Amino acid sequence: MTAHYQTHGEVAVITLDNPPMNGMGLSTRRAAVQALQRAQDDPAVRAIVIAGAGKVFSSGADIKEFGSPKAYQEPNLLGLIRACEASPKPVLAAMHGVCMGGGLELALGCHYRIAAPGTRMALPEVKLGLIPGAGGTQRLPRALGVEPALNLIVSGEPVASELLAQLPGQKLFDRIAASNDTLLDEALALAREVAQRHADGTPLPRVRDLPCQHPQGEAYFQFARNMAKGMAPRYPAPLKCIDAVELATHKPFEDGLALEREMFVNLMHTPESMALRHVFAAERAASKIADVPADTPTRPIRSVAVIGAGTMGGGIAMNFLNAGIPVVLLEQQQAALDRGLAIIHKNYQAQVSKGKLKQDKLDQRLALLRSTLSYADLADADLVIEAVFEDMGVKEQVFKQLDAVMKPGAILASNTSTLDLNRIAGFTRRPQDVVGLHFFSPANVMKLLEVVRGAQTAPDVLATVMALGKTIKKTCVVSGVCDGFIGNRMLEQYVRQAGFLLDEGCTPQQVDRALEQFGFAMGPFRVGDLAGNDIGWAIRKRRYVEKPEVRYSKTADLLCELGRFGQKTGAGWYDYAPGKRDPIPSPLVQQLIEQNRQQIGVQPRAISDEEIVQRMVFALVNEGAHLLQEGIAAKAGDIDMVYLTGYGFPVWRGGPMHYADQFGLFNVVQAMRRFARNPHDDASFWQPAPLIERLLAEGRTFTG
Ligand code: NAI
Repeated sequence: MTAHYQTHGEVAVITLDNPPMNGMGLSTRRAAVQALQRAQDDPAVRAIVIAGAGKVFSSGADIKEFGSPKAYQEPNLLGLIRACEASPKPVLAAMHGVCMGGGLELALGCHYRIAAPGTRMALPEVKLGLIPGAGGTQRLPRALGVEPALNLIVSGEPVASELLAQLPGQKLFDRIAASNDTLLDEALALAREVAQRHADGTPLPRVRDLPCQHPQGEAYFQFARNMAKGMAPRYPAPLKCIDAVELATHKPFEDGLALEREMFVNLMHTPESMALRHVFAAERAASKIADVPADTPTRPIRSVAVIGAGTMGGGIAMNFLNAGIPVVLLEQQQAALDRGLAIIHKNYQAQVSKGKLKQDKLDQRLALLRSTLSYADLADADLVIEAVFEDMGVKEQVFKQLDAVMKPGAILASNTSTLDLNRIAGFTRRPQDVVGLHFFSPANVMKLLEVVRGAQTAPDVLATVMALGKTIKKTCVVSGVCDGFIGNRMLEQYVRQAGFLLDEGCTPQQVDRALEQFGFAMGPFRVGDLAGNDIGWAIRKRRYVEKPEVRYSKTADLLCELGRFGQKTGAGWYDYAPGKRDPIPSPLVQQLIEQNRQQIGVQPRAISDEEIVQRMVFALVNEGAHLLQEGIAAKAGDIDMVYLTGYGFPVWRGGPMHYADQFGLFNVVQAMRRFARNPHDDASFWQPAPLIERLLAEGRTFTG
């Protein structure tokens, strides 16, 4: 059973018990309705308490039922709430830990509410592109006041119970308990008290009967709309939250409830909500590996060593210091070590000056950092992460040394972005302990961590680094071994298309603008200037030798031959005023583009933004499909998480693979066939990956 029934004298206690968050799934709703009925039928019961087992009251919807018909099957949440509200015996909610979404809507349907201090109260539906759909927008403004209720509903952010309880005139809480431990006893006492109070037939208080007004409603809601449009212009849900709360101020309760439902159902079908719900599920699924069970034992990671204090090493070290894990940082020379340490100090100091970090916390973190020039000082680390030059010879030296000094059972990780992890593992006598941890730059900021699984990486090593990834607040996605792993292998095709678009008639600013209007944080040429165009140049030079048959636009090479590596050299695809980062279209770059067009004999043509976006995004999709087929990526949702957290893909589009599903795989294939007929593009690349053809034939999608 996912809800239990117990009596304490004249009070029945219904305990929601659906771990881990007491989600209001079908079985929980059924059990709660049955328990409620049992309490009604028992003449000895005079009041009913609804509580949550474990650490929380309820987080609302059961994510296991997400999107399945079960979520709406009777008794649905609205039915359960109605049953509580209509109960002739007083029903009390006793909340602790977390009371969110449907959990809070249920509590609002009860006659009385008591909460432990520190209970996180929220209606987070807006984060999934929705509005609360079980009365939250109609009851919360009545219980809490219009302004704080709207704030909670539009932000979706939690607020602690004791803070909300201080709001003047609030009716959300009848009482705040002394602590989690005393909550049940205090709830039972309150239940007895109210049973007595209503023994003479005094009507039970219902939130729906409370007045709901705002003295300057029209102006207030207008302000709120302006704010929401400014802050979240791409999302429809915040405006609908405002509409729904406004309804509560001037419509009878039942009418408001019906309209809220209608808005909720309509939002469920918006592309934005479908994308956000996909991302929510994909993020959780990414942390699971099919052949590594959740109960796989992990190795304790009490200390970490980082080798190389360059661009990546320092940022990688900061992740662990931030999580309270001691780090020893190794370099080959004192000067390099000093440089790396200075950057770590500078980054932390910047956080202190911005008020994001307190000085005492900084001191605590820095006290965990040691530095060394000697491998002997790493021997006891539980995990070592190598971030030295991207050169197989250097990696070989480093891993042979690590193999010699590290204690048995230590995990040996490489941050390589392109090299063959299996070869690196082969430099040791313990390939089972070797794994790739591909951080993104800046490593202390970027959410994405590609966990690269070598042919021999042991399951407990994978389980350990996935858990550790969570500790350092990364989104971990597992990738198999290939050149570029998931993210950069796809990026290469995306950037290749950007080059062809220049050859055929675009300017860098047109391509960037089209992608930014699509929703990317930055277009490909601005990204190139930020990251350094020399990185791609080095990769292309390697490709010209390894894969001479693959064609690239030569404009980028002309650019790099002039030393225009981007912001770091003061010029790249754009010009930059000294000390500024604003891109200025460059006449010189335009000349390079035209020079290259003449060399390859292309007459420029006008290219629509639609073609730009489709070629760039479907290049990601086709390469993503190959990665799935090869088993490098396990799930389409993993690819989406890589692009959302590491490459600035717009969240409301759900990632490239979800976007392709929404666009329709038939339409995607049609577009690819069209691109394949373009003589200046790469016809062989645009052959749809066999996986896409198969899904299409079977009427399936990547993410469905
Ligand atoms: P970097 O050149 O900034 O830093 C490398 C550091 O390693 C230097 O400080 C160097 O003195 C040190 N080093 C070289 N050989 C060493 C040895 N034998 N023992 C100890 N220290 C040694 O390079 P960066 O950019 O930090 O890259 C490091 C690794 O991270 C590479 O494998 C790279 O492919 C990868 N990576 C780089 C990203 C980036 O955006 N820069 C992103 C993701 C991965």
